[in-house]
Amino acid sequence: MCGIVGYVGKKDAVPLLIEGLKRLEYRGYDSAGVAVVADRKLGVVKTVGRLSNLESQLLRQPLAGSVAVGHTRWATHGAPSEVNAHPHCDCDGRIAVVHNGIIENYHALRASLEAAGHTFYSQTDTEVLPHMIEAALRDGAACLGDAIRAALTQARGAYALGIVSADCPDVLYAARQGSPLIIGIGEDGDRFIASDVPAVLSRVREVIYLNDGEYAELRDGGVRIWNIKGDEISPKVERVTLSAEAADQSGFETYMLKEIHEQPRVLRRLLERNPLFGGGADFGLKPDYFRKLQRVMIVGCGTASHAGMYGRLLLEQYTGLAVEIDLASEFRYRDPRIDPGTLIIPVSQSGETADTLASVRLAKQWGCRVLAICNVPGSSLTRESDAVLFTEAGPEIGVASTKAYTAQQMAFALLAIWIGSIRGTLGDADVQSLLAELAQVPDAIHYVLDRKDLIRVIAHKHCDAPSALYLGRKFNYPTALEGALKNKEISYQHAEGYAAGEMKHGPIALINEYVPVICVCTKTRDEVYDKMISNMREVEARQGRIIALASDGDTQIVRFAQDVIFVPAVRDDFSPIVNVVALQLFAYYAAQARGTDIDKPRNLAKSVTVE
Ligand code: AGP
Repeated sequence: MCGIVGYVGKKDAVPLLIEGLKRLEYRGYDSAGVAVVADRKLGVVKTVGRLSNLESQLLRQPLAGSVAVGHTRWATHGAPSEVNAHPHCDCDGRIAVVHNGIIENYHALRASLEAAGHTFYSQTDTEVLPHMIEAALRDGAACLGDAIRAALTQARGAYALGIVSADCPDVLYAARQGSPLIIGIGEDGDRFIASDVPAVLSRVREVIYLNDGEYAELRDGGVRIWNIKGDEISPKVERVTLSAEAADQSGFETYMLKEIHEQPRVLRRLLERNPLFGGGADFGLKPDYFRKLQRVMIVGCGTASHAGMYGRLLLEQYTGLAVEIDLASEFRYRDPRIDPGTLIIPVSQSGETADTLASVRLAKQWGCRVLAICNVPGSSLTRESDAVLFTEAGPEIGVASTKAYTAQQMAFALLAIWIGSIRGTLGDADVQSLLAELAQVPDAIHYVLDRKDLIRVIAHKHCDAPSALYLGRKFNYPTALEGALKNKEISYQHAEGYAAGEMKHGPIALINEYVPVICVCTKTRDEVYDKMISNMREVEARQGRIIALASDGDTQIVRFAQDVIFVPAVRDDFSPIVNVVALQLFAYYAAQARGTDIDKPRNLAKSVTVE
């Protein structure tokens, strides 16, 4: 969603802000703006649309200075427009604020500020903040920092903030409550703020993760941090382990294609580095906890929820635990019978998804332990969980999740085997054979990538269809859901994923000669294979266009399908990790043929930090 970059130092700030904001483009946005302090004056430029519009406007209306904040906005309160774009200013145009999150009590705050004579221009919740800071200064706050603290004590909701003022021309303020914000320590006194590390990866090697309820003052060469009570806190500086190239496109036409191709390497690394079988490191919860455990509740959103559905099947099969999965956005409003003995497993690439975080906070109130499966070190989820299994996939920039998904699947496979070994539901021989078969998955994905030209031909053939249906069963039911989600996200073709057994209960009515039906029917010993073949016969009888995803060596499948995408045969339990890569490529090439903006699909945000 929205992106923040701020800078204070000796350099010209605007090019640095634009560079950083471009690296945050993947989060999704509809307008952008910057505010720069120079000669005790504040200059603000804002535009609707892509950052190129802002760059063009900055050529007509240049801003120079070395203290500045920039923002990309994804509209929540008020339509995408120049006036609603950030930064927002106080009455005198001397204080500028950029904000990610939502100020929930802005209505009441705005009403009292308007009653006190403040003039508002936008429909945003954010605009109350500069006015509150202005009011606190008028009321006698000793300095800008104190005024910011006074304002924040009245604001309810979530925020990551960057604040500059013409009257404090050497400082940049930052604050965080519920929305991520990092401070970057660069060379030569450079200090940055950013919504996430990739924004400043080429400029900093050390970061400070601001905690909820903290605000910071950044100067050329210095950082000070306080909590909301005004107590100073010593910053914890951490080294950035990611390389700058990790967030580059590396010659691929899109980030998504690069990330699809990274999967074999990512999964190999996860197999090697995982703390369960790999390094033997402590990942937060002790084996004894898992011996006594009875019940698991998995929560996540979108793609992460599909990984959770796959994880449930593995955990049930290998550990004998009772396992449930729910969408985080539903779970948080249900009245589930969760006792403190239930382990909550939130799954999230970003670790910042609002509904997933809210579910975790609820579960903690109920006394549950939380084991997160997450990709982003330092994210809110990793900091609020008792234990973290990192997916180690590196920055995922394409809005449509690919490598993070297969890494979540692999993390679940490792976790389920490990818990099974601890609980004795898997013997040593089972564990060894499962791990050996899991280790074949990265090579199998390589073979899928090698067949991308064929997948492209099939995708182009069917990409004009009005709608597509994806069917799968058991382990590959989540694969069907994920394949359909990828397709609709990036190609905008209507697509539905279904459990194949449900087809006769409704979706069969959609089938005609124009509708491609993608049937995931890979097998080794799969007991649902024959059922999938029956479903395909039913589609065939209604003239549906069948595209089968089948295992190498399956000679009968060509009789039932118009097109077949063959993938290497791996154990059924692990086939979803391989199969989904073929569906990622299928969606990718459909989107390419339809000419969409693959890395930044319309209306979508990479990380959904509001409800
Ligand atoms: C994936 O392609 C989607 N863009 C989306 O469904 C995503 O998986 C979801 O928003 C959850 O995000 P998270 O993993 O960062 O929590």
